[in-house]
Amino acid sequence: MTNLHGAGCVVTGVAGFVGSHLAERLVNIGCRVVGVDDFSSGREENIRSLKDSDRFALHNLSIRENGLIERLCDLHGNLQFCFHLAAIVSVPYSMSHPDETMDINFRATGALIRDAHRLGFKRFIFAGSAAEYGNDRRLPLREAYADGQTVHLSPYGRAKYLASTETAASPLGVALRFFNIYGPRQDPGSPYSGVISRFVDMALERKPLTIFGDGLQTRDFIYVSDVVEAYLAAAGLSMSNPIPPAGIYNVGTGQAVTIRQLADTIMNLAQYSEPVRFLPERPGDIRHSLADVHAFETAAGWRAQVPLSSGLRQTLLWAKKAEHE
Ligand SMILES: NC(=O)c1ccc[n+]([C@@H]2O[C@H](COP(=O)([O-])OP(=O)(O)OC[C@H]3O[C@@H](n4cnc5c(N)ncnc54)[C@H](O)[C@@H]3O)[C@@H](O)[C@H]2O)c1
Repeated sequence: MTNLHGAGCVVTGVAGFVGSHLAERLVNIGCRVVGVDDFSSGREENIRSLKDSDRFALHNLSIRENGLIERLCDLHGNLQFCFHLAAIVSVPYSMSHPDETMDINFRATGALIRDAHRLGFKRFIFAGSAAEYGNDRRLPLREAYADGQTVHLSPYGRAKYLASTETAASPLGVALRFFNIYGPRQDPGSPYSGVISRFVDMALERKPLTIFGDGLQTRDFIYVSDVVEAYLAAAGLSMSNPIPPAGIYNVGTGQAVTIRQLADTIMNLAQYSEPVRFLPERPGDIRHSLADVHAFETAAGWRAQVPLSSGLRQTLLWAKKAEHE
C-alpha cells in the first residue's frame, strides 16, 4: 500500500458528479488534489466543500490544453496519480458531435497518459463505460467481450473503448468500466442524466414516473461511494487491498434490476404512489446490461457494498435537501 501522506493526485472532471465525490475522499484520506475542469457539465457547487482545503487546488482548464500534466507538475510538484474523468458525457451530444467526442474522450486521453508516463506518475486511472460493450447480449458482460469487432452504438461508446484500450496498454494504466452510477449530485436536469436522478426528481415533485418501454429492461446500478472506493483500490490507495495490475476492469454490482422495480422502490422510499406512465421505447436503448465483476474483485479485493435501497435513500435525502437550498 502507498503511503498516503500528501500523495499528489490529478483529478480531471473534478467539478462533475463522480469527480467531486472522488476528490473529497482523496482529500479526506490525506492526499493533495489538483483538480481540472472546464465546467462544461460540472458545477461550482459540487466542489464547494473543497474550496477551503489547503490540500485542494482548482484549474479551470480543458484537458485539451497542450502540456497540461507537465504544467500541473511544475506548479504543484510531485504528482503521482492521475484520475481521468473529464469527458463529453452526453450520448446524444456525441452523436451530433462525433469529431469533438473523439478528440476529447479519446485523443486527449492518449496525450494525458503518455505525459503521465513520461513524468513518472505511478498510476493513471481512466473512467471507461459499459457503453464500450455496444449491444452485446452475452450477460453478464465480461471485459474481453468488448473488442475490435464490437459495434458501438455511439461515438461516446467508441471513444471510451479506444481510450480504455490505450490506457490498459500503458504500464501505469487502469481503465474502470463503470455501469450505471447514481447518487447525490447527479444532475436530473440534463438530457442525458441517469434514470435514477430523473425518477427521484419526478417522485419529489409528485409527478407520475415515466418509463420508456415495458419497464422490464434491466440495468446494473452502482452507488457513487462504491465507485470512489473502486478508484482508491485501482490506485493502490486502499487499506490492505492488493494493487491490481494494469488493465481493464468492470465496476458494477453484478446485480440486475428492472426499471419497473426501480420505479417502485423509489416511490416506496419517497412515500408516493401514482400509476407509472409508459412511453414508447427509445430507439437505440439497450435491453439489458449487467457487469461480471469477478476480475476486479480478484485483482483488487474490491466489491460493491451499498445495497440499492440504501443508495436510493441517500440520493432522495440529498435531492430533498437540494430542493430547499
Ligand atoms: N455517471 C455514470 O453513470 C457514468 C457511467 C459510466 C462512465 N462514466 C464516466 O465517468 C466520468 C464522470 O462522469 P459524471 O457522471 O461525473 O459526469 P459529469 O458530467 O458530472 O462530469 C464530467 C466532468 O468533466 C468536465 N469536462 C468535460 N469536458 C472537459 C474538458 N474538455 N476539459 C476539462 N473538463 C471537462 C465537465 O465539466 C464535468 O465536470 C465520465 O468520464 C463518464 O463518461 C459515468
